[in-house]
Amino acid sequence: MEKRWWKESIVYQIYPRSFKDSNGDGIGDLNGITEKMDYLQKLGINVLWLSPVYKSPNDDNGYDISNYQAIMDEFGTMEDFDRMLTAAHEHGIKLVMDLVVNHTSDEHPWFIESQKSVDNPYRDYYIWRPGKDGKEPNNWGSCFSGPAWKYDEKTDMYYLHLFSKKQPDLNWDNPKVRQEVFDMMNWWLDKGVDGFRMDVISLISKKPDLPDGPVGINGYASFNEPANGPHVHEYLQEMREKVLNNADTITVGECSGVTLEEAKKYARSDEKELNMVFQFEHMDVDADGTNKWTDKKMDLRDLKEILTKWQKGLEDIAWNSLFWENHDQPRSVSRFGNDSREYHDVSAKMLATCLHMMQGTPYVYQGQELGMTNVPFTSVEDFRDLDSINAYHELVEEQEVFTSEEMMGYLRYKSRDNARTPFQWDDSENAGFTTGTPWIMVNPNYKEINVKAELENPDSIFYYYQKLIQLRKEKEIIVYGSYDLLLPDSKEIYAYTRTLGEEKLLVVCNFSETEVEMEIPKEFRNADYLISNYETRPLEKIMALRPYESFVVEK
Ligand code: NOJ
Repeated sequence: MEKRWWKESIVYQIYPRSFKDSNGDGIGDLNGITEKMDYLQKLGINVLWLSPVYKSPNDDNGYDISNYQAIMDEFGTMEDFDRMLTAAHEHGIKLVMDLVVNHTSDEHPWFIESQKSVDNPYRDYYIWRPGKDGKEPNNWGSCFSGPAWKYDEKTDMYYLHLFSKKQPDLNWDNPKVRQEVFDMMNWWLDKGVDGFRMDVISLISKKPDLPDGPVGINGYASFNEPANGPHVHEYLQEMREKVLNNADTITVGECSGVTLEEAKKYARSDEKELNMVFQFEHMDVDADGTNKWTDKKMDLRDLKEILTKWQKGLEDIAWNSLFWENHDQPRSVSRFGNDSREYHDVSAKMLATCLHMMQGTPYVYQGQELGMTNVPFTSVEDFRDLDSINAYHELVEEQEVFTSEEMMGYLRYKSRDNARTPFQWDDSENAGFTTGTPWIMVNPNYKEINVKAELENPDSIFYYYQKLIQLRKEKEIIVYGSYDLLLPDSKEIYAYTRTLGEEKLLVVCNFSETEVEMEIPKEFRNADYLISNYETRPLEKIMALRPYESFVVEK
């Protein structure tokens, strides 16, 4: 297997709005990030992915961009950005920008022009269609409730928006659009950024006839209908030639709706497209078909089957991204672990072990290294995320699919805002995030869960992450070794081996709060521990695994 620095890296994702506010306006900012570079360096990560910091009216917290070459006022200035970039590089940290080019904001000058008339030079930058029988051109739904089309009186046509109506989809079939995007990317590379995380890049190429799809619980087809469209690979290869080959970049495509076969093309090892993709199958493990609004718990056997399929399926062919969390997902310790006082720490460490020992590039989402948890939101007014707010109105008030109580339960479990509350720095007011009024509530558990407390405790989740990250840097087998699942039928234990030449690791994770017995494969009995979330003891034939116990041993 080809060795590459981006395979050996550990990425940390910052959601700038919620990381650190430096000027007391209640909103995190670039200077706040610059202030905290030492913290990131201490954790040991070497790549930083920033959720969007560009100029934006913030309908979707920056994922609706009105100027790709300017900084959002609330986050600071371009000078602040340059200072942050320099500070990152001085700390040995590379910087990955969020590239959101499936759509722009409706306040982007291209869209403002496009809307003016059917013969405006920018008309074809977006996807406009006439209605069908007085209704939308097809049955696609927006990711954020309702139809994916907005009627525009001015020209009596509809425009496509797979996300909010303030996020019109760009028309990638127009070569001018592609060139604009490539020029903008080169501009950022010239500035010195090190790569891109590409927002819903699997959706950029739509079939020209935009066919209807099967409908979900709200009566619309999924926003994912256009995934892996007819020209997506061609466009990414063009991007590779015109942009990415100009620098030594790291690239990861957010690929909703990606299949294993498609991922092999996006993240192919001949490096003609992207370095790796985010796939979401394991994030749907606790969904109800295509409906995420449920409180169904995952079955560990399903999780193992999915992750093993990706581990084995991409081996030697492409490269995996490893993640439990990001700004669109609830907190993993509340979702796949156990956030009760008793098991919070061990289960957060167990989840970290399980993920960080796999093959692929690991991503740590801000606060995951502290075991930040889901948030006890009490009313719909507590939410800021348009996905959560729109879903509540659509499914409770308009369609009466769920009662308010049911939906509040689902939101507490799955809302994206669980990941977006302020980062917990210390036990002072507002968790040390801001001296002002935070834009979204602080999780009340900040007095116990915060950086200050974790740095003072040698046994903390933070130091456990630090150790996992260090191990990956020291041991080639963790990066490049092959993966093999053990005990596929166990409902409690996730165990696998990694192999590189003569070397071998055993990774054991008890996902349950009960004691479970495991037979340790012969070759690992009396093996040496690399890491464990409990006091270690010699490995014997039969081990009674303690609740959420996890360890890694080396033969
Ligand atoms: C995926 C991003 O991760 C999410 O936060 C955003 O709302 C949509 N794409 C639209 O850009």
